[in-house]
Amino acid sequence: MTAESLLIEESLERLVERAGDPTPAVYARLFARFPDMEALFVRDRDGAIRGEMLTKTLECALDLAGPNAYAANFIACEAVNHDGVGVPREIFATFFEVSVETFAELMGPEWTPAYAQAWAGLIARIAEITAAA
Ligand code: HEM
Repeated sequence: MTAESLLIEESLERLVERAGDPTPAVYARLFARFPDMEALFVRDRDGAIRGEMLTKTLECALDLAGPNAYAANFIACEAVNHDGVGVPREIFATFFEVSVETFAELMGPEWTPAYAQAWAGLIARIAEITAAA
């Protein structure tokens, strides 16, 4: 375990303890920033796809911070798949950013500078992976 992966893991554990399921807040922020993206979820009548997408995103973050057994490949594949769904590449990469901004908002002062720094490092790596995909 690296220091980064411990911080990422701890930040997500604290988030769930403090704020419960962040899914509605993440998508509210996403659609406020990119209103055109909401209509793309037309098949997602019950929110299951939205929930699954956030879960996969966070699993990727944990893997990328740790062993990186699959996350870099998975993110690159999904960036290409999402071209087909109508998600521009530069918006795809911002999902991690929007999620983390939401977590910081939900946690208030409990979102520590160390969490923010660990996530910023991860987001920079994700931006590189996505740009190269
Ligand atoms: C703002 C950025 C993003 C938007 C607007 C977006 C949009 C979507 C939409 C509309 C779907 C449903 C497609 C369908 O009807 O089948 C979807 C599915 C999915 N997305 Fe994203 N996506 C974004 C970023 C990401 C990221 C960063 C990841 C993970 C690395 C990801 C992983 C997935 C997965 C795994 C599914 C399939 C979920 C399932 O069907 O159970 N998405 N996305």
